[in-house]
Amino acid sequence: MAAITMKNIVKRYGDGFPAVNEVSLDVRDGEFMILVGPSGCGKSTLLRMIVGLEDITGGEMRIGERVVNKIAPRQRNLSMVFQNYALYPHLTVFENIAFPLRLAKVPREEVDRRVRETAELLELTEHLDRKPANLSGGQRQRVAMGRAIIRQANAFLFDEPLSNLDAKLRGQMRTEISRLQRRLGVTTVYVTHDQTEAMTLGDRVAVLRKGVLQQVGSPRELYEEPVNLFVAGFIGSPSMNFLPASVDGTALDTPLGRFEAGDARKAAAIEGRDVVLVGIRPEHFEDASLVGAEKKARGSTVSARVDVTEWLGNELYAYVPYEAPDDLAAQLRDLSRELDSDQLRTQAVISLDAASEITAGDAAELWIDTSKIHIFDPASGANLTRDEARVAELARVAERAREAQRRAQRPGEGAGAAGDLSGGGAVTAAGEEGAPAAGAAET
Ligand SMILES: Nc1ncnc2c1ncn2[C@@H]1O[C@H](COP(=O)(O)OP(=O)(O)OP(=O)(O)O)[C@@H](O)[C@H]1O
Ligand SMILES: [Mg+2]
Repeated sequence: MAAITMKNIVKRYGDGFPAVNEVSLDVRDGEFMILVGPSGCGKSTLLRMIVGLEDITGGEMRIGERVVNKIAPRQRNLSMVFQNYALYPHLTVFENIAFPLRLAKVPREEVDRRVRETAELLELTEHLDRKPANLSGGQRQRVAMGRAIIRQANAFLFDEPLSNLDAKLRGQMRTEISRLQRRLGVTTVYVTHDQTEAMTLGDRVAVLRKGVLQQVGSPRELYEEPVNLFVAGFIGSPSMNFLPASVDGTALDTPLGRFEAGDARKAAAIEGRDVVLVGIRPEHFEDASLVGAEKKARGSTVSARVDVTEWLGNELYAYVPYEAPDDLAAQLRDLSRELDSDQLRTQAVISLDAASEITAGDAAELWIDTSKIHIFDPASGANLTRDEARVAELARVAERAREAQRRAQRPGEGAGAAGDLSGGGAVTAAGEEGAPAAGAAET
């Protein structure tokens, strides 16, 4: 096991395009780090540089104490699982899992013992004699995982390993991966663009945009205290709403109505500015008729015309289209496109209590929890209201949660499964293009 330390990592492909640009990121020993970002932002490139399948153009990559920029993939002793995990169709589950150990010429009895241990961990024991073709998608994915974790690698690297599975299996495997990682305690970097995976799996999440690292933090930190418009819009589903607002003293004039900025910190952030973007998450609105007087006083109420409603049983979505000045509308459209959002128009998406009886066409009284809003600089996209004290507190919360999860998964601390799965060997790179490629990468 080892930490992975990246310093100013750059990757330029042949055409000079910087797919990864000056990325500095420390993955701590035993940490579960998630890499997210829209398609093409450089996630796979970064992962492939860690594992050594891609040359590093600039910067320094360390695994443990060792600088690995010039070290061959197999000497880095990392295990990687790709999106299109490739199993050997002619080999049994047992032999598929055993493969890296056979390559490393591990003695027979030890192979046998370790395959059985790994299979036990992944609940594959009863399938050891079967061929991959006869397994379900989730079982196959577990075999690919087994092949990756059977070696005691310095780190596990996953590139969207669950994206080929249907939603239900993905949910199951997600929990399994989380449990397994905490139990083995092996440093892990996991690429995804699935919101739920990003929010639930990792200790910390790193958000990339066009090859540039935007923010690294616990899921809560990214959600509650994003550094800029991009992270604010990318993390969370449905996305945060961004409303253009003209500043009038301590009040904000938005297309949904006028309201007070909230506290002194927010008032200070807008002081002296003409126009800002106000970020409000869908759940920070409520049907004003359902909010008690005391709570109501802590926020602001606006009146807005609801265009469409969707009642989902546990909540009610209301859509409120609005007009924005041309330049800001264009900026918001660009951002929305970059975030792969399916939004076609400037509209606020609002999540209300399912008990709400607001209907389409109504001029609805909407309460806004102004203590939760963010103010962004429209030019730079910077979050002007990020609360550093809260950020520090969230970091402590995350640290406690991480410790608790590890304890829960490793009750007998020290005698963990990681210790039993000992041994070295080559990089197990389950090839992207099918089993033969995987074989090549494993030599
Ligand atoms: N072999 C290559 N030669 C030239 N450009 C490349 C090569 N591989 C990737 N790129 C470019 O580098 C950028 C980052 O690609 P990368 O595959 O790392 O993105 P990604 O974040 O993994 O995207 P996705 O979510 O779609 O998998 C893209 O713009 C891509 O076009
Ligand atoms: Mg990719």
